[in-house]
Amino acid sequence: MTPMKDSCASLWASRLRQNQGIRSLMEDLGQVTGHPEEILLGGGNPAHIREAEDIFTACFQSLASDPNLKALLGDYQAPIGNDRFRALAAEYLSPHLDANLRKDNIAFFNGSQNAYSFLLNIHSGKMIGGNFKKILLPIVPEYIGYADQSIEADVFLAKEPEVIPTGKHRFRYGFNKENFDLSNIGCVVMSRPTNPTGNILPLEDIQWIEERTKKNSIPLLIDLAYGNPFPNLIAAEEPITYKDGRTLSLSFSKIGLPGVRLGIVMANPETIEILSSYAAVGNLAVGNLGVYMMEFLFQKNILPELAKNVLRPFYEKKLELATSIFESEFKKYGVEYEIHDPMGGFFLWIRFPNLSISNHQLYHLCKDKRLFIVSGHYFFPGLNSDFSHTKECIRLTYCRKEEELARGAHILAEIVASHQAKSK
Ligand SMILES: Cc1ncc(COP(=O)(O)O)c(C=O)c1O
Repeated sequence: MTPMKDSCASLWASRLRQNQGIRSLMEDLGQVTGHPEEILLGGGNPAHIREAEDIFTACFQSLASDPNLKALLGDYQAPIGNDRFRALAAEYLSPHLDANLRKDNIAFFNGSQNAYSFLLNIHSGKMIGGNFKKILLPIVPEYIGYADQSIEADVFLAKEPEVIPTGKHRFRYGFNKENFDLSNIGCVVMSRPTNPTGNILPLEDIQWIEERTKKNSIPLLIDLAYGNPFPNLIAAEEPITYKDGRTLSLSFSKIGLPGVRLGIVMANPETIEILSSYAAVGNLAVGNLGVYMMEFLFQKNILPELAKNVLRPFYEKKLELATSIFESEFKKYGVEYEIHDPMGGFFLWIRFPNLSISNHQLYHLCKDKRLFIVSGHYFFPGLNSDFSHTKECIRLTYCRKEEELARGAHILAEIVASHQAKSK
């Protein structure tokens, strides 16, 4: 890293420069060389699914031949979207989220990542009353992209989750209710399904948390990037609804449009109003392409069917395939492993309990062989205890082709097998 002169860097800038989590992941994604041996199991790109791509191509072509193309290319949108699109989204999403949303509940952003970088700073740091509020993550591991979004340092707070064995080579993290404390908390945040684990927090746990956040007027932020109503990669779990006190976010990325950069936030009008001020300053305006594509997809009611008939079956099949490929390689090489119950999303969270090196070192060894994975240590912002999983776990995507998964599994198993502390 090139040294930075003290006088030209804020504390925030220097903290950002030290963060290698989301940046390293996205740089790995963007800087692949196209080498035939590269195995890209690191980043969060959705799979390329023919049926979905055909729909998006038709949508794109329809926009390209529409007289409105001039407005799409040549006019700014309002900071969080023009009223027409916000009203359309409110009306369309209301029945899907069992709510009566109005345009004042809706804000569009250039991806939900962009929305979170505002949301987390609205609800944390130094408050108007002078006190300092933190962001509580009820379960870690949690999405790598939240860490370092806060302008203030040391803003995240998390406790060790419960580790629940669920079968041979399987476990899941449970919400740890012990000493649950909301003093000096500005908001509570979770992704559902959770990236990286594929965990889905049961509705009873969410209700339990919400009974307490409501009493203290603390917003509960639920990130539905992989959740309902689209892409709806939540298997049999109960969907989330919108209600007062909740801020929900949706993304177009995991349906197959990460390049379009559209995120949708649903929240109370006061929060949306602040987001609008923030968006004007930080973004000027949300991009047009996403909202125009949304208009097309919502008016034709395409996404729920796409999720049900194409996306979910595709990812369920991939999950089955990937687990069987990885488990058979692990067994072949005598690798000791545990996989988090993959309840949703499209990642596998794998723990190697006898790894003699850190997961970060494992990442580098894999990268040397052109296999890209993500080291799990990045996913525990705010956790200050010595939880062994922070050093033993990795995340990988199963969106890739079968032969790529097979080569990846082979390399990973070989490396882990040669770096195990003890064999049973
Ligand atoms: C849980 C979660 N939230 C938000 C995002 C950000 O997605 P986008 O900015 O593409 O909408 C991601 C991307 O991987 C994610 O996994």
